[in-house]
Amino acid sequence: MIPHTPSESPPSNLAALAEDHYFNANPPPKDLQKHMELAKDFIEFHSKAGRRLVLVTSGGTTVPLEKQTVRFIDNFSAGTRGATSAEYFLEAGYAVLFLHRQFSLLPYSRHYSHATDCFLDFLREGPNGSVVARDEDAGKMLNVLRKYREARDKNMLLVLPFVSISDYLHELRGIAQLMKPLGPEGLLYLAAAVSDFFVPPERMSEHKIQSTDAVEAFNKKPSKPSASEEEETFDNFDSSPSVPRSKRLVVDLDPVPKFLKNLVEGWSPEGMIVSFKLETDPKILVHKAKYSLDRYQHHLVIGNLLSTRKWEVVFVSPGNPDKWIRIPQGGKLDDAKEAEKDEPLDPKSLPEQEPEAEIESLIIPAVAELHTKYIKTMEGKKLEA
Ligand code: PMT
Repeated sequence: MIPHTPSESPPSNLAALAEDHYFNANPPPKDLQKHMELAKDFIEFHSKAGRRLVLVTSGGTTVPLEKQTVRFIDNFSAGTRGATSAEYFLEAGYAVLFLHRQFSLLPYSRHYSHATDCFLDFLREGPNGSVVARDEDAGKMLNVLRKYREARDKNMLLVLPFVSISDYLHELRGIAQLMKPLGPEGLLYLAAAVSDFFVPPERMSEHKIQSTDAVEAFNKKPSKPSASEEEETFDNFDSSPSVPRSKRLVVDLDPVPKFLKNLVEGWSPEGMIVSFKLETDPKILVHKAKYSLDRYQHHLVIGNLLSTRKWEVVFVSPGNPDKWIRIPQGGKLDDAKEAEKDEPLDPKSLPEQEPEAEIESLIIPAVAELHTKYIKTMEGKKLEA
């Protein structure tokens, strides 16, 4: 990998202006300060120990429609990629700062929390009124429990939640800036499913959006509708002309600024930055991943398709040929030699059930290897300078 050289200059004026505008207009989450203190202590602890540290972002970001939020737009992500990756990073010796969507999957507990069975189904009554794991589950549970306890007892895992897109961006910026002193040893692995659109605060209703005019009727004296109000009541321009315009909810969203440039150039200029690119159309995946790398000048884009994301991903990084990482179609790692096709699999050719093996068990060692090369290259550059 040829790492992009971190720029010494601050992000371009336009990006800096967009950043100021966004972060001033969108209030921080109420726990930001507390989270930053926890993150600072965690980062300093591992920095002193000379340990590599990864920020893993995970899960979907919500787009609130109201300031006192009753309704919001969400996306599909349950946080599987992030939570699973976090476990393999811990296994590879990294300290993990896990920034995740509240109530999405967490490392270790994921094996039971969102299972199709209720977690109580994994338990049975033991002797003297105790509760124990069912015999058939006990072996795996003990293994997971030991790994979880080890991570917790050695302070290797810090878990911080977010909910909305603006919470996420405030937290990401704060943590990335705190990671600056780690230099190239810091890794940012951005697996969260980040909203591309949002309602800017100046257009957001304070209270719950009403579906009837009962409140208006309560506030106003009833009066005969004016001619223009009558005209506005119905229109014939779409497929449901019988629904009065005043009763519809037309949602008008602005684009969320892309802060990857600010991240690369300003927030964490020496850390290795890995972003994910999610698409649904196999024909454009690699092109979009390359476009993202070119635009933001970071270090690795991992492309994945919604329908095949547990079977294959593609690594796109500067100076390297694209690298596909796949679970063999039997679903197990030792089923067959790794398929060598250089393009996306046909989703229809894949078995319906999920693979038994976890693709993150292949992704993380490959990322860690690139990280090692990145650190060496950056050290070499420092010696030359
Ligand atoms: O949770 P799972 O169900 O396991 O699913 C995992 C996943 C598919 C969500 C994950 O593997 C993944 O692809 N995550 C990234 C999804 C995403 O936001 O893709 P994107 O193409 O919209 O954005 C690409 C990159 O741009 C992201 O790394 C994001 O950090 C960044 N971005 C996106 C939007 C935005 N407004 N600003 C950004 O900086």
